[in-house]
Amino acid sequence: MCGIIGYCGLSQAAPVLVKGLRRLEYRGYDSYGIAVSNRDIAVSKRQGKVSEGERDARSIRGKIGIGHTRWATHGVPNDRNAHPHTDCRGDIAIVHNGIIENYAALKRDLLERGHTFRSDTDSEVISHLIEEHYTGDLMKAVEDALPLLEGSYAILAIARGEKRIVAARQSSPLVIGMGDQEVFAASDMTPILEYTERAVFLEDGDIASLDPRGVVIRNSGRVVVRPTELIDWSFDDVKKGGFRHYMEKEIYEQPEVFSNTLRTLKREEVPKWLRKVKRISIVSCGTSFHSGLLFKYLLEEICRIPARLEFASEFKYFPPPLSELVVGITQSGETADTIAAIKVAKSYNCPTLAVTNVLGSSITRIADHTFYTQAGPEISVAATKSFIAQLAVLMHIVDELSGGTLTESLERANRAIEETLLLDMERAVACCQDAAHIFFVGRGPLYPVALEGALKMKEISYIHAEGYAAGEIKHGPFALLSEETPVIALCTPGPTYNVMISNIREMKARGTPMIILGEDGDWDLEEIADVFISLPSHDLVTRILAATVALQLLAYHTAEALGRDIDKPRNLAKSVTVE
Ligand code: M6R
Repeated sequence: MCGIIGYCGLSQAAPVLVKGLRRLEYRGYDSYGIAVSNRDIAVSKRQGKVSEGERDARSIRGKIGIGHTRWATHGVPNDRNAHPHTDCRGDIAIVHNGIIENYAALKRDLLERGHTFRSDTDSEVISHLIEEHYTGDLMKAVEDALPLLEGSYAILAIARGEKRIVAARQSSPLVIGMGDQEVFAASDMTPILEYTERAVFLEDGDIASLDPRGVVIRNSGRVVVRPTELIDWSFDDVKKGGFRHYMEKEIYEQPEVFSNTLRTLKREEVPKWLRKVKRISIVSCGTSFHSGLLFKYLLEEICRIPARLEFASEFKYFPPPLSELVVGITQSGETADTIAAIKVAKSYNCPTLAVTNVLGSSITRIADHTFYTQAGPEISVAATKSFIAQLAVLMHIVDELSGGTLTESLERANRAIEETLLLDMERAVACCQDAAHIFFVGRGPLYPVALEGALKMKEISYIHAEGYAAGEIKHGPFALLSEETPVIALCTPGPTYNVMISNIREMKARGTPMIILGEDGDWDLEEIADVFISLPSHDLVTRILAATVALQLLAYHTAEALGRDIDKPRNLAKSVTVE
């Protein structure tokens, strides 16, 4: 989704902004732009990749500026609709993340009052509203204009002749980086990390004035102080480090991520109230939904705690009767649907728990308690290491609630992930890369893993892939099986092993190429399989982790064989901050 960057300091702003936009690319965008204030405000914006117009943008002179990567919501992706947007005279420029829900009415009124609009976006109303209230003090004008807006926003604004940036936040993330005689603002820490580790996270309703001497924040007309937090992610964490893609790097970081997450959790106390919960509801989206499904399975199977899992996007509009603990799982901590679902849970007075990867993200400010995953910045749009880190947190909670049932397996888990990373996917890739459709099937805890494998495959290879609980395949999808439709079956020892073998034989009888992930030494399976992938697993925890990592590798290498844009798949955004 859209990304924001701002700079105000002693250096030229444009190179910092352009570099910042490159770092924000992973969020997904279709156009970009910057505005830099010198004597006048100069704007450079266009549809396309930052790399295509970088030279023009870099050459603009001035030490105060704002930049934006746009993900179109209102108005098609084109040069005009790219941010920044200016007022009628070009004296004020703004960038905006979020959605202004009442923009149509505001725009109609502004047009009647003689304003000239140059774009089809909802965001442009902001620059014109600030213009109407501007009398030489940008902070005051922003404070006066914002109450007219309904919706969500993170805004940066600059005005001709003012040596500062004004920033504002409502339900859309905005972080300020405190440098030495320079200050940054951004939608997340990624573009700021190479300059400073000191961050101030704005809260909803905050309006901040940023200049090289410091930051003044006001909320509801009063000055407020927000803590400065030290972010221990390093700039190296956001570089590719010799790997061809961030996704590949992030897959290979997983053994460390898993053990770091567990190590950090062991130093924390599990809140006492968590030990007493009788029921749990889980809300999340995408990959985080799949870790939620695994959590549900483990809670019910091992802790005997009834758990309900809902898509966050459904939960907000159709909340079930609720009184229990509600857990929101989200890598970014900014997914609009998950945030909205947690707010609904709070409106029911339910205790809430967040599992997230991003310090200071929106969900951490709403939930009663947060468990952090220690995945570090995940740049690739496809979630990999954040999923593994979520599993570390969720398995740790299950371990704590069940009196240590998983402790030994969790200690061995790291090794299993490392060994899985050595698997050769060549034959499996050859079987998948020309397919138009692929099914992923599993049972019990391997069903969420199958769903996650299918999601990874479809999002980065663009091959249509579906995850199924293996028993369901006969209830319809069987009609689609053929010699051209590979099935990836997850089949490891456990209560469903025999029935899974029967399912596999039935599919095989339809001529379907079978890629089977099973355990080392399973000769029966090897014999049935067209391609057998031998997982280094020996218990429930390692089966889940090894199968997950193997399917990540399969998706990655298939997408690579097809020459896809792996880190930035088409139409996708890393963080979905609008509903
Ligand atoms: O930041 P979140 O975990 O809340 O994001 C949820 C989904 O948008 C995300 O997991 C998405 O499905 C991934 N790109 C999948 O790889």
